[in-house]
Amino acid sequence: MNGTTTGATATDIEFHYDVGNDFYALWLDDTLSYSAALWEGIEGDGSHPDVLAQAQRAKLRHHLDQAALPPGGRLLDVGCGWGALVSLACEERRAVEATGLTLSRAQLAHVHSLRLPGVRARLEDWRSHVPESPYDAIVSIEAFEAFAGPGLAPAERVRTYAEFFAACHSWLVPGGSLSLQTIAFDAGVDASGPVGSYFATDVFPASALPRLTEITTACDAHFSVTAVRSEPRDYIRTLRAWSARLRAQRDQAQQAVGADTYQRYRLYLKTCEVLFLRGEVTLYRMSMRRRSRPLDLPC
Ligand SMILES: C[S@@+](CC[C@H](N)C(=O)[O-])C[C@H]1O[C@@H](n2cnc3c(N)ncnc32)[C@H](O)[C@@H]1O
Repeated sequence: MNGTTTGATATDIEFHYDVGNDFYALWLDDTLSYSAALWEGIEGDGSHPDVLAQAQRAKLRHHLDQAALPPGGRLLDVGCGWGALVSLACEERRAVEATGLTLSRAQLAHVHSLRLPGVRARLEDWRSHVPESPYDAIVSIEAFEAFAGPGLAPAERVRTYAEFFAACHSWLVPGGSLSLQTIAFDAGVDASGPVGSYFATDVFPASALPRLTEITTACDAHFSVTAVRSEPRDYIRTLRAWSARLRAQRDQAQQAVGADTYQRYRLYLKTCEVLFLRGEVTLYRMSMRRRSRPLDLPC
């Protein structure tokens, strides 16, 4: 693993994501979305696969709306997971091309196996990405947490995040938008404490959560923030749905990954739920419009 500085490497990412696609399929919804769903207006038992999938699709549509992907447009998804967003963009929004970046080989193989026209996936860190032509829209859902490691001071984290926003600016067409979803610290807990180190060691190696001010400081030169939604309840409901589904599939899950890994996931999902309930962390959905010219801001 990569110590604690620049953020998660492919090895760090694979520790969490490559435990097996079959395992994740047991408790995620059929889109294999691995991020908070959007539950506004959605009734019913959240652990029911149809209800969870409905809330996950609502989340995907929200981001495509916020990023203003036009029909026939080109989309970049930074941290595409198992391809839920790029698939929906091509199937439902008639994107001509939707490219997803991931550091997980298991996720890449899954996206390729979908064989959907227009859907592309690359095993690539965003730091190395060179687009063939500019994108009309960019979305990044819960990958931001892996961009800077827990060993970085806040100013260094902001510099790393600023590099990400500068890259997105350079990849987008003039007037283009970016829709970002990330978990963030919202109280006293931080990456240097026991909760932060538990996550950075046992759950998501070399990852650390941002704070809202770090994100807004980092994006300011290149993007104008047009909306910020703080929606911890969306994560609490998603985590409860995942926990209930994983518990209901205990035997199959243990067969797939063993009793220890099953228990590790049960504990991490419950710990996350407690952190959201206590207000230690929250979920942000942020909409940003590309500035025509970067601002020359004092550091
Ligand atoms: C929590 S998953 C979210 C996946 C997907 N966006 C979703 O909502 O289902 C995080 C994703 O970010 C990717 N990721 C993390 N760091 C990355 C980086 N530096 N460059 C590209 N992808 C990255 C991981 O490989 C993984 O696909």
